[in-house]
Amino acid sequence: MGQAVRLEREGEIGVIVVENPPVNALGQAVRQGLLACLAQAEADEAVRALVILGAGRTFMAGADIREFGKPPVPPFLPDVVDAIEEARKPTVAAIHGTALGGGLEIAMGCDYRVALAGAKVGLPEVTLGLLPGAGGTQRLPRLAGVEAAIEIMTGGKPLPSAEAVRLGIVDEVAEGADARAIGVDFARRLLRDGAVKRRTRDLSAPLDAARADPALLATAREKVAGRSRGLVSPLLIVDAVEAAVRGDFAAGLKRERELFEQAMDSPQRRGLIHAFFSQRQAARVPGLSPDVRPRPVAQAAVIGAGTMGTGIAMVFANAGLPVFLLETDESALGRGMETIRRTYEGAVSKGRMKEAELARRMALVRPTLDYAGIGEADIVVEAVFESMEVKREVFARLDAVMKPGAILATNTSTLDIDVIAAVTGRPQDVAGMHFFSPAHIMRLLENVRGARTAPDVQATLMELGKRLGKVSIMTGVCYGFVGNRMLHQRGREAIDLVEEGASPAEVDAVLTDFGFPMGQFALWDLAGIDVGWRIRQERRKSGDPDAPSPNWLDRVAEKGRFGQKTGAGVYAYEPGSRAPLPDPEVEALIAAWREEKGVTPRRIAPQEILERCLYATVNEGARILEEGIAARAGDIDVAWVNGYGFPAHKGGPMFWADETGLAAIVEALGSYARQPGRAHLEPAPLLARLAREGRGFKDLPEA
Ligand code: 3HC
Ligand code: NAI
Repeated sequence: MGQAVRLEREGEIGVIVVENPPVNALGQAVRQGLLACLAQAEADEAVRALVILGAGRTFMAGADIREFGKPPVPPFLPDVVDAIEEARKPTVAAIHGTALGGGLEIAMGCDYRVALAGAKVGLPEVTLGLLPGAGGTQRLPRLAGVEAAIEIMTGGKPLPSAEAVRLGIVDEVAEGADARAIGVDFARRLLRDGAVKRRTRDLSAPLDAARADPALLATAREKVAGRSRGLVSPLLIVDAVEAAVRGDFAAGLKRERELFEQAMDSPQRRGLIHAFFSQRQAARVPGLSPDVRPRPVAQAAVIGAGTMGTGIAMVFANAGLPVFLLETDESALGRGMETIRRTYEGAVSKGRMKEAELARRMALVRPTLDYAGIGEADIVVEAVFESMEVKREVFARLDAVMKPGAILATNTSTLDIDVIAAVTGRPQDVAGMHFFSPAHIMRLLENVRGARTAPDVQATLMELGKRLGKVSIMTGVCYGFVGNRMLHQRGREAIDLVEEGASPAEVDAVLTDFGFPMGQFALWDLAGIDVGWRIRQERRKSGDPDAPSPNWLDRVAEKGRFGQKTGAGVYAYEPGSRAPLPDPEVEALIAAWREEKGVTPRRIAPQEILERCLYATVNEGARILEEGIAARAGDIDVAWVNGYGFPAHKGGPMFWADETGLAAIVEALGSYARQPGRAHLEPAPLLARLAREGRGFKDLPEA
């Protein structure tokens, strides 16, 4: 690779180009290069103004996250930004793609900022458990005002360029061939108009406004505290902005540095950065060469227009892909199309979608009753009843009509994909795409490879997942795949804990205190208790030796209390409210169940609830790794953070287990397993082995 940063000339304009693919992260070589080019440009009398830009697909994505946690090597980013701001010559940042984190901080160190229309700017450090640490907390309030700056930095979402102009962060959105053209043009105009330096640190009007309103910071702090859900860095951001309001620029920078270092040392930062990298790593499937080319997908089809089928059809339409939606009869098809229309209309009435967009998306969904018409689709996702018989029948028909090379995917939650594939003459084209309900909202997608799924089919599913806006992992075939299989173990402990003496609310409170958005029982009430109840009944009826024995939750379902949809489940619900309320009827039902089973209820400490629920989850994760169902512990973490509300700042269950210490987990599981009826909590062999060897899940090679 050549120089990470170079200085070029366009007449009187010096153009500093950062080229550090793929996203121009500000690693040590870039920081050094920026200082060197700046010094060179300052020394060159022929250069009268400077433009700073990024080569390739984007401006700069911020500090190099890979350097975090390692000893810092100078020059440091805050000093680079200061040097840019101190330059004698006027400086312009020319932004395309995204200017994020340290990238925007570099841009704010420039005197002016100009952006292409599609560009975005933001300070997303909060999503990594950090705060802007190169002057961002001091410069953004000087450009956008205190309130907007706090919103932007604690929310972490990038802003479109037009919004950035409205807020004073960017001076102009310009039309042009590329960032270089608009940057050079802007700089020429500056020189022609005799514009002078305009250092961001010297702008004071927005801060003066905040200084005149003593309640502003307190109100902002309260708001941020109310929504930060256990995250530390949002409040550190408010602290840093407070320093900008109360003191001078130098004191503010100093305070920002202290707070940044505090955040850098926090376990939350480690967890969030693990979540960031494991999500990107999950996109690369072990054993799948990067040279395998995905098959083209321009037309999709979905079979079954029920809960999942309608959601999946919307996922395709939302990504701009035309999709056939096939049903068995007119009325089911009509109901499905109506569900889709109502969902989009809901988005329109909430102001989240324009009427024209609704029409465009509806036009992409093509209802049909005829298999013959869908044969040209590149991929078909089956979402019919969870019955092997029905699914095999559907796959036999698909095999007959779909064009060669079409991918045949099933959304099954529990059935064996290899058995489904066997009815076709093309098992290499068959795979699973396990979406979660509601499919158009939930981010997680478990792609499932069967024993014979072709490499290019696997590659297509991973690429398609990204295109559909999903976070995908690849799993192997097993009952429940990764997420639900582990959730099942947590659910089993939750049910047992209540049988032994805890209340459902006590179990849920431990999980929400840990950082889950809702507890196990509230989750069941949301998803519908009847779903699991029916599956348990089926398994018991079919003589499945692993079928769970009857439990008190079955009794709740038998009373028709299916959860929120019937107005009552494990909890009671006031009409129109989703807030779970303890219900004396369920308490009596549980008490009667304990009596029948001869259980004397005991008080169960929160620690035991937490350990049993989460260690059982981790233990199942270890089995999943051992069987090679998931290729890496990080993939499991991705599933739980993106599909099950595991707090991202704890990294995911396997990362959290490593941080907790596997030896402590093995010891606790072992002692629970020695109690009567708890043999299933015996530590999985892989977990026990890693603990013995003093290693963690992170030390495992990819399967
Ligand atoms: N540092 C190091 N590597 C980075 C990176 C960064 N800041 N941002 C992205 N990458 C890497 C990714 O890990 C990935 O690597 P891989 O190909 O080996 O997996 C590659 O760049 C491409 O990333 P994506 O797959 O995410 O590409 P997209 O095009 O989908 O998204 C992006 C691009 C919007 C820039 C996205 O990568 C992103 O959001 N990056 C993080 C931005 C961020 O959080 N910046 C703040 C950093 S902290 C900071 O600046 C501190 C400062 O205030 C002092
Ligand atoms: P559903 O009962 O809401 O919908 C199934 C639809 O398939 C019905 O509209 C039915 O008319 C149609 N159908 C049945 N046989 C058909 C056939 N031969 N040809 C065409 N259409 C047919 O079921 P749901 O909940 O949407 O589940 C569908 C699949 O998705 C199942 O395999 C299920 O396990 C899986 N799944 C369900 C999730 C959920 O939370 N509901 C989550 C993830 C997967």
